[in-house]
Parts: sequence; C-alpha cells; structure tokens
Amino acid sequence: MAEALEQLSLKDIPPPPPGTSFVDDATGADAASAGSQESPFKTPAYALYTFPDAPIYIKKAADGPFEPISASMLKKAKKGAEGLAKKLKAAEEAATKKAADDARKLDDAKKIVLVTDSSLPKPKHIKIREGTENRETRVLIHGWVHRLRLQKGLAFLVLRDGTGFLQCVLAGDLANAYSTLTLTLESTVTVYGVIHPIPEGKTAPGNHELAVDYYSVVGLAPGGDDAITNKVQENADPSQLLDMRHLVLRGETMIGIFKIRAQLLKSFRRVYEDLGLTEVTPPCMVQTQVEGGSTLFSLKYYGEDAYLTQSSQLYLETCLPALGDVYCVQESFRAERSHTRRHLSEYTHVEAELAFLTFEDLLVHIETLLTRTIEYVLEDPESAAILAKLNPGFKKPTLPFRRMTYESALDWLNEHGVPNEDGEAFKFGDDIAEAAERKMTDEINEPILLTRFPVEIKSFYMQKCADDPRVTESVDVLMPNVGEITGGSMRIYELDELMKGYEREGIDPAPYYWFNDQRVYGTCPHGGYGLGTERILAWLCDRFTVRDCSLYPRFSGRCKP
Ligand code: 4AD
Repeated sequence: MAEALEQLSLKDIPPPPPGTSFVDDATGADAASAGSQESPFKTPAYALYTFPDAPIYIKKAADGPFEPISASMLKKAKKGAEGLAKKLKAAEEAATKKAADDARKLDDAKKIVLVTDSSLPKPKHIKIREGTENRETRVLIHGWVHRLRLQKGLAFLVLRDGTGFLQCVLAGDLANAYSTLTLTLESTVTVYGVIHPIPEGKTAPGNHELAVDYYSVVGLAPGGDDAITNKVQENADPSQLLDMRHLVLRGETMIGIFKIRAQLLKSFRRVYEDLGLTEVTPPCMVQTQVEGGSTLFSLKYYGEDAYLTQSSQLYLETCLPALGDVYCVQESFRAERSHTRRHLSEYTHVEAELAFLTFEDLLVHIETLLTRTIEYVLEDPESAAILAKLNPGFKKPTLPFRRMTYESALDWLNEHGVPNEDGEAFKFGDDIAEAAERKMTDEINEPILLTRFPVEIKSFYMQKCADDPRVTESVDVLMPNVGEITGGSMRIYELDELMKGYEREGIDPAPYYWFNDQRVYGTCPHGGYGLGTERILAWLCDRFTVRDCSLYPRFSGRCKP
C-alpha cells in the first residue's frame, strides 16, 4: 500500500527543469556545494542567493524524492536570501575597511622610528637563564621569536635563546612600529629592557617578563607560505617532519628531550667520575666485528676493507691494564634493515669496562649506575621540570633491580601464553624477540636484569657460567615501554676459551691479535656493558620511538639532513 502511494506521488512530481537548484537539509552543504542532485545545497535561502532565477527542488524526507519548493517556503527563502546578501555585503565592506585600515596602520607604522633612549643605563648582556638574578637592571638579550601575539597597542613575544624562554612586552611605539607589525616567528631579535616579576596569579616562564625599551631585528624569518608554521606542521607525515628536522628541533618537546639528553650524558659522566672510571675515546673506523657480521657497515679505508664500529667494547678491554676501569661515549653503527621503534643505524653508545670483578659485582655496578644517573638528572631543577612535563608519571627506579634468568623468563612467557617467533611455546635456546620481551617487561612494569643467556644466542666473547656451561654470564637491562636498554657480560679471559668462541662463530681470530693479547699479557676477570642513549631517553622521556631521541636519526632509507 505504502509503496503504491509513493509511486503515485513520484508520478505526480514534474521533472526538474534544466538549471534547477537542489536542496537537502540532511545531506546538503551551502558554500561547499554545487546545488546539483548529487551535491545539493542545505538551505533554500542559500540556493536562492546563489542562483536567484533558478527553480528550487527540495528533499523533505531522507528517503523521499526532490520536489518543487512550496510557495510559502519560497517566500521564506527569499527573505533569507536577502539577509544573506546583506550579511555578505557587510562582510565585504568590513574586509575592505580592514585592508584599508591595515594599509594605513602600516603606513603610519613606517613613520615610527625606533631609537634607544641614551639617557637609560648601559644594558648588561645576559642569557635568558640569568634573568632572575638580573631583575630590575637594564639588560640586553639576543634570541629567536618563539611566540608572538599582537594586541591593540601591545605586543607580547616569547623569546628563546637556548637557555630558556622569556616573555617580552612591547608597548606604545614599540608595539606599533612597522618592524613589530611585520615581525615573524623564528626571526632573531635583540631586546633591551628591564625584567620585572609578574603579578601574582599570572604565568610566564621564570615568573617574570621583560618590559622592552628598545629592540632591533637581526634576521627576519619569512612569513606567508614560507612561514615556519607552514614548514613544520604537527600532523604532518613523519618523513616530512624528518626532512624538516632542522626546524622541528626548535619545538618545545624536542628542546626538552635534547636538554634531558645533555643532562643524562653529563650525569653518566658524573657517576663514572664518582666511581673512578677514566674516559677514553676509541676509534669509529675499525677492522673487527663485535656483535655479528650481519649488521656491519663496511667501508673502503685507503683501499683496505674496514667497518664502522658496532661497539667500542674490544678497545675498552685493551685499556684496562693501562688505565684501570674505563668508559666511553661513542657513536656505534648497526646496519639494521628492519624499521622498529627502537633501532637506529647510528646511536650514541655509553660503554664501560671493569677489571677484577665478579658477575654479581657487574650487576650491582649497572643498577647503581642507572639509579644514580637518574637521580643526578632529577637533581637538576631544569631537567626535573622538563621531565615532569614530558613524562608526568615517571617513577625513578629503586635498588635492587629485579633479577631474572633467561630460563625463568621463558617460564614466565610460557605461563602467560606469549609464543616464540614461530608461534610456539618457548624452549631453551630461543631468542626472546622484541615483541615478547616488551610484553613481559611492560607487564612486570619495573626494571629487570635479565641474566644467563644461552651461549649460542650470544657473542663470541662471553664468559660461560661456572655452574652451567650452556649459559653465559650475560645481562640485558629491560625497562618498561622500551625493553632492552643495556647489554653486558663478563668476558672470556682465557685465550684458549676465546679461540673456541671465534671458532663457534666462524670468525678469523687473526685480525683480533691485539684483543687476544689482552689475554696473554696479564689477563684478569673482567666485564662490561653498553647502554643505548636513545633507548634510555625513550624510557625516561616517554617517547614512542628512539628516533625522537636522536638529533638527526639514521635508519635504513634516511641519512639526511
Ligand atoms: O646489546 P648490544 O649489541 O651490546 C654490545 O654492543 C656490547 N658490545 C656492549 C658492551 O658490552 N660494551 O648493544 C648494547 C646496547 C643495547 O642494549 C641497546 O641499548 C643499544 O646498545 N643498541 C641500540 N640502540 C639503538 N639502535 C640500535 N640498532 C641498537 N643496537 C643496540
């Protein structure tokens, strides 16, 4: 019955003449539509305003047909269209007036000549971080325009100079001058004035602001299409952002991460100093592998085959008899083909080597180093404030770290139904791959010292456990969200044993003569470890990927800028 009625009414509707405007309140849009059946307007008023002479067909129900507009609706639409026309005219007039006002303002602005008042005291050149102790004295500061807000008769700019952020207030002629009205983000300026505390209840970096009495532009950054806000957009494709890394680095999050990075490296050095280790700087161009041939970057070195170092460990070992316990902060290189959130082709490797110690001593050293370093980072008020923003839920690790053997990790994974890489239950000898390791670490949610890995899945140089020669005196430090941040071990210190290691891994021992001599000229039990700076940072700063924590990250397919 209903179908019959519908067919009847459809038959009664005259076909729309050519040039008809179509309106559908449910699916149409006004300004963005063409007014066709496929792209209808939303309102009859807009249809009439756009095509005043066109007939209008309107859809009254979502599943109904387009039908001619009724006379009463048309009358209403005419009123609406008149209103729209008026509104648009007013907007056009306002825009013309604003353009004329702006042009006049700029012309007036050009007449303002900014000069420094010679009766004012000579300014003291300071950095932003020295603001507090230099309040109420006339200062001069160079920096970049980080934020800019122009208001009637006032301009607020947040200046950045690498040591901090400072709100600067420009009033009167300073705010109205041509250079201020045309100032752009990332321009460099020199500001002169006096820093005053801000009134209570207001917020500004350092709780103060600079009342500017004079400023000059050092380098004007582009505006319009080339403005930094168009070059670096938060939601842009990650690879575009990496192309623009040199500009992205100026953002507050990046600045925070690299301030923490500097503080972290400084803190590592401070702990090493406390513990009496000596810093050395081993070479990056080498002719020996450390962590397996598959991730070596090779290069031609004056016609000879050479590599970029995977780890400075072997060189550190040779320093023990000369300098005692040593460490280095050095770039390591890994030709990792896979794109994961924790692998880079180049990373900053903090490595240490210690002589005459037991495996237990090594574990205690590593957990002490990590906890003390983090304490030193947090001791610094600037770093603590940045970390509170980047990672508000961060809890500093406490001693002792949970210890877990490789075999008990397999039990944990099997009990929790986490399969190995073949989708089966874990068995002795399996590698614990990234996904499984992360699952376990995240669930346990505290630092883990994972120890005693099987000989076969570890490097040629690792010392076997005295009570079980199937496993090594090895350790990985695992952190929630990131997984492995540190890998270390005791080293084989008997030459015969080491030779067996080379043989097992199919490595020619000849190029390692200098490393082998370590076992000949006064051998000793020793061990060490390497920490991936970007991985520790990813954990500390709560970053999804280590790429955020490297200044100019390198991974397969990216070696620029
Ligand atoms: O576990 P790895 O491979 O150990 C070594 O290189 C030892 N020779 C170090 C030593 O004992 N002196 O690497 C040590 C650490 C890892 O735990 C990880 O934090 C980091 O280096 N790492 C990487 N970081 C970023 N990208 C990569 N491709 C990394 N490979 C290792």
